Amino acid sequence: MYKDIKDSANETSCEQIQLSKAELELIFDVAPECICVVNRDHRLLRVNKSYASFAGKSIKELLGTSCYRCFWGQEKPCEDCPVERAFNTGEAEFRKKAVLRGKNDIRYFETCAFPVCGESDEIVRVIEYNKDITDEKRVFEQLVRSEKLASIGIMTAGIAHEMNNPLSGISGTAVNLLRMPEKYGLNEKGISRVTAILESAARATNIMKDLLHLSRKQDSSNTLVDINSLLVKTVNAIHLGGAADVRRKFDLDDSVRLISCDPSKIEQVILNITTNCMQSVLEKHALCMAEGKEYTGIIEVMSVLEDDNVLITFTDNGIGIPEENRSKIFDPFFSTRSAGQGTGLGLSICLKIIGEHGGRIYFECYEESTVFSIVLPRERKSQPVNKIRL
Ligand SMILES: Nc1ncnc2c1ncn2[C@@H]1O[C@H](COP(=O)(O)OP(=O)(O)OP(=O)(O)O)[C@@H](O)[C@H]1O
Ligand SMILES: [Mg+2]
Repeated sequence: MYKDIKDSANETSCEQIQLSKAELELIFDVAPECICVVNRDHRLLRVNKSYASFAGKSIKELLGTSCYRCFWGQEKPCEDCPVERAFNTGEAEFRKKAVLRGKNDIRYFETCAFPVCGESDEIVRVIEYNKDITDEKRVFEQLVRSEKLASIGIMTAGIAHEMNNPLSGISGTAVNLLRMPEKYGLNEKGISRVTAILESAARATNIMKDLLHLSRKQDSSNTLVDINSLLVKTVNAIHLGGAADVRRKFDLDDSVRLISCDPSKIEQVILNITTNCMQSVLEKHALCMAEGKEYTGIIEVMSVLEDDNVLITFTDNGIGIPEENRSKIFDPFFSTRSAGQGTGLGLSICLKIIGEHGGRIYFECYEESTVFSIVLPRERKSQPVNKIRL
């Protein structure tokens, strides 16, 4: 009798353990984070589905292999490895690291490594928990850039407004002089000087317009637009010296088609980004020519539907963006172009327009290429659609 009770109690607790195990396994498997258990040699003892899916292998294939090779794409353990630190300190250790997935896909991870002790209090394994923070990072960076832009905008709006009157005075007077050169005693040289004044004033007026554009909330239309057609039309419309030799490739997702946006503003964004790509490619072309190297400039435009958003990428194989400039390129007036070639407002304007559309803009630099990406919601929620443009 006593034995029977004991047996059935054992059976119940066994069942409970099985149930808890199954529950824990389910939690481990369905977690969106990439989780693994590793030993001191960095060998994988367990991995969940998200981990296997990111590594592009089956769970079975991964077990027994090294985490640095399969997940982090390295030939030896990563520098500053949090697993190694957790084994050494016995404490939870953290790290942020980027992983290159394929040629042009970088992902950012936040890793926590938790040591697990065996019976003799010795650390026998470490649980590594990797959270993909790529989207979070991009949203945060855009927020910082937008805030920076807003604070610069308040100051520049005032300056731009005050500068408009004297600039109109300069242009108006120059136009008068050119209308009646004899009356004002202008010879040919004089006319060419006044023409130069007029051109410079026109350039300054355009910069002021861009500045006001940056600092003011502008009226915006909302139209259903075939974004793929807009991309092809705008990218092909760019004619810079030498641009004919640059290959323009399109890889457009047919399922994208109509999105609601302000077409003239999105066109401006496409134009700014593609012009930057083109300038970068042409600069690289000039460098290669000088060094007698073969080079074909390529600009590739891609669109792809991702849930309720459209992702548009512009990839060029131009000169790239040096590390020290990467945090500044969205700042108004930051430009590496020679004087008169660029005002440094292009990307700030893009940032503002994309922000007004509830989207995101970011870039990544790879060894051979630079990729600018725009994420646009298919439906712009705040604005009613008033037209359809195909
Ligand atoms: N695809 C790219 N490849 C390399 N550098 C780039 C690229 N896109 C932008 N940049 C860098 O970012 C800087 C800022 O770009 P932005 O478009 O804001 O200004 P700009 O092109 O210099 O002048 P503009 O006001 O005429 O556009 C550029 O001067 C360049 O150094
Ligand atoms: Mg530009």
